[in-house]
Amino acid sequence: MIEINNLTKIYKLSSNQMKKLKTKNSTKVAVDKVSFSAEAGEILGLLGPNGAGKTTTLRCIATLLKPTEGSITVQGHDTVSEPEAVRSSIGFLTNEIKLDPQFSAKYLFHFFGRLHKVPEDVLEERRKELFTYFGIDGFEDKKIEELSTGMKQKAAIAVSLVHDPDIVIFDEPTSGLDIITARSVTDYLLELKKKGKLVIISTHIMSEAEKLCDRLVVIIDGKKTAEGTLENIYEATGTNNLEDAFFELYKENHKEER
Ligand SMILES: Nc1ncnc2c1ncn2[C@@H]1O[C@H](COP(=O)(O)OP(=O)(O)OP(=O)(O)O)[C@@H](O)[C@H]1O
Ligand SMILES: [Mg+2]
Repeated sequence: MIEINNLTKIYKLSSNQMKKLKTKNSTKVAVDKVSFSAEAGEILGLLGPNGAGKTTTLRCIATLLKPTEGSITVQGHDTVSEPEAVRSSIGFLTNEIKLDPQFSAKYLFHFFGRLHKVPEDVLEERRKELFTYFGIDGFEDKKIEELSTGMKQKAAIAVSLVHDPDIVIFDEPTSGLDIITARSVTDYLLELKKKGKLVIISTHIMSEAEKLCDRLVVIIDGKKTAEGTLENIYEATGTNNLEDAFFELYKENHKEER
């Protein structure tokens, strides 16, 4: 289980960043007092437009960023005071962390498996299972840099699952993938849910959120603007599909011009 209480993350901007953003503010509130929780056996979607704060929230859960304010617990462990315990129970995937291009998928799988202290026989068995599922068999000894975009992403997913984590956190897992490859990823997330894992994904693809997620947390400009099942969100916005619901929430909650 994950519990997020009043998470706020404020970035300090460099003078270059301030120039780029044409702002006089030296800070940026990326996530603003966001609270939600998620349970084993569900797929929770963080839905929001570009810059909403999705990646920042997921990085805070994954212990890669410290909250400015608020707190997060993962299976009862605080992400700031017990980061190792948190990391051992989560598999994290984000576009910003790439597998080292010089090494093969097989080598990296074993490398990260040993870091997580997975016994050798279990490790090889798990590798075969994941590589077969994702069609990495036959490519396992090729350097990451020689693989296609889809194959790289699938290798990154397999590596993130090396320790069979109870909680899987994937930041835009189907970004840049064709529909066949994307489908193998979303089908696998449903398998993980069936096994009783907690899955959290971020997405701005409405159809993906509709098909995959048991519950959604909608974030706009760093603020939580809606939360619940699809039905809850349709009801709250007087709509019957997520795209319309999202536009309603966006109109209500986004005052500045884009
Ligand atoms: N390291 C950083 N320093 C300063 N500002 C940042 C930093 N990382 C993100 N931001 C800003 O914080 C806000 C939230 O960014 P974040 O990457 O969390 O959004 P996101 O919802 O993941 O967006 P996207 O859909 O584009 O991936 C944005 O305005 C972004 O420009
Ligand atoms: Mg992002």
